[in-house]
Amino acid sequence: MNTVWQGQGRRLHIQEVGTRDGLQMEAQFVPTEDKIALINQLSQSGLAKIEVTSFTSPKAIPALRDAEVVMREIARQPGVVYTALVPNVRGAERAIESKTDELNLVMSVSATHNLANLRMTREQSFDGLAQVVRAAQQAQVPVNVSLSCVFGCPMEGDVDPAEMLGWAQRFIDLGVQGLTLCDTTGMAYPTQVAGITRAARQRWPGAELTLHFHNTRGMGLANVLAAIDTGADRFDASLGGLGGCPYAPGASGNVCTEEIVHALALMGYDTGVDMATLLAASRRLPALIGHETPSQIVKAGQRLDLHPVPEDFDAVRERALARSI
Ligand code: COA
Ligand code: ZN
Repeated sequence: MNTVWQGQGRRLHIQEVGTRDGLQMEAQFVPTEDKIALINQLSQSGLAKIEVTSFTSPKAIPALRDAEVVMREIARQPGVVYTALVPNVRGAERAIESKTDELNLVMSVSATHNLANLRMTREQSFDGLAQVVRAAQQAQVPVNVSLSCVFGCPMEGDVDPAEMLGWAQRFIDLGVQGLTLCDTTGMAYPTQVAGITRAARQRWPGAELTLHFHNTRGMGLANVLAAIDTGADRFDASLGGLGGCPYAPGASGNVCTEEIVHALALMGYDTGVDMATLLAASRRLPALIGHETPSQIVKAGQRLDLHPVPEDFDAVRERALARSI
């Protein structure tokens, strides 16, 4: 019998970022047809959104140099939003040309990280992204803005929440549909997450709000739960727990999709995601990237994947019962 402890069926949206945030960090190039097959499998699992790739400079992110082909050739499942990261107008043109459903723009609320990652001041980034928003609006493609380092910068330390609120407001004023608050290097902790999620929810009740956590310090799931309790219902997560920004020192994997889905399902939340399909996709990763993934569910199995009793169990039981007579 399945006991619903607390989720009471509340709908949560899980967004896969492994094929972008995950693969961008991998040394081994995953062949284009394997990327497409992986995304096609993920499309069958019930995820709300898949960040397919990034239309960045192929010199900066060679792992995703096949963005156009992947975006064009995946088999799209109705109801799944196929998004892609876009750093500038050139990337937006490529993404729109490839029929991307949504453009995911990125800038950092940390001045230092923005320079390291995007080679621009934050003002320059904003001006460039404002042009991207206009291009997307002309093409009638929705825009999400991902703000990096909202919960801390690996080079600057704490970032004043007012920075996030200020930059996010400027994008909302441009008419973007969604905002993602990113914990780029796993610096977020639950009480901080609760405060920032509550502030964002209150300020922009109409925007699609996503939380993007990395599990760098083991606080990923705790942060997801804290965000749910303060009104968030959309989470980025990465198959196998891959991921990390190449321009953020110490970055490591996102929260792992199958770990998050597994935990949320036990708690009675409705993620819409089928664990068997997700796990089958995750088990393909080691062959594609050349190493194991951090996924605890792949290692340990699901909570009720039971193990056989030890071989001498019957003999042990008989001895124990004999003693109690
Ligand atoms: N798509 C394809 N090529 C691009 C591009 C894009 N979106 N943006 C820039 N380029 C190319 C330019 O054509 C130029 O090529 P060339 O050297 O052959 O002439 C080269 O990249 C440099 O262009 P420039 O405008 O000087 O940009 P830059 O070197 O300052 O790079 C970024 C800026 C942000 C576009 C680039 O650093 C980048 O894509 N970084 C990746 C950021 C990222 O994904 N980080 C991790 C995720 S948060
Ligand atoms: Zn990330």
